[in-house]
Amino acid sequence: MATRNIRQIGDSVLNKPCKEVKEVNDRIRDLISDMFDTMYEAEGVGLAAPQVGILKRIFVVDVTGEEPYLFINPEILETDGEQTGYEGCLSVEGKSGLVTRPNHVKVRAYDINMNEFTMEAEGFLARAILHENDHLNGVLYVEKVEGPLLTNEELAKLLEEQEQSKE
Ligand code: NI
Repeated sequence: MATRNIRQIGDSVLNKPCKEVKEVNDRIRDLISDMFDTMYEAEGVGLAAPQVGILKRIFVVDVTGEEPYLFINPEILETDGEQTGYEGCLSVEGKSGLVTRPNHVKVRAYDINMNEFTMEAEGFLARAILHENDHLNGVLYVEKVEGPLLTNEELAKLLEEQEQSKE
């Protein structure tokens, strides 16, 4: 297991567009393996290569802890619907904010053997895929936030209040 440092907002590497992967060599395989290790150790649900300082079009996602997905050179083919929810990012530590995104996504990408695949996702998985895909274009979710960025404490309090108001 090898983890890498997660770059934080303000680091210019997070605002640059990433380059296509031409071939999966040992370096790329090591990067992907380290990205999964880094994501799981940080208890995140997704991580894009620029977040560990590498400007390549690669991201990993696992929203349940048991369904790891790898996307190389992803391309968003279709989006549909709308969802609004709180979102965070391992590069914006301890904060979250309300972001509206499509509820459904169809994405084409390459796997570790550079075989093309197409996948459709909804809800939180779609949100994670779109969030990570933004990273490859140098975009952080804070650019899309509606309202203030909340600390974890503020978010917990807000969700608790919302829960109580339902009773
Ligand atoms: Ni992120």
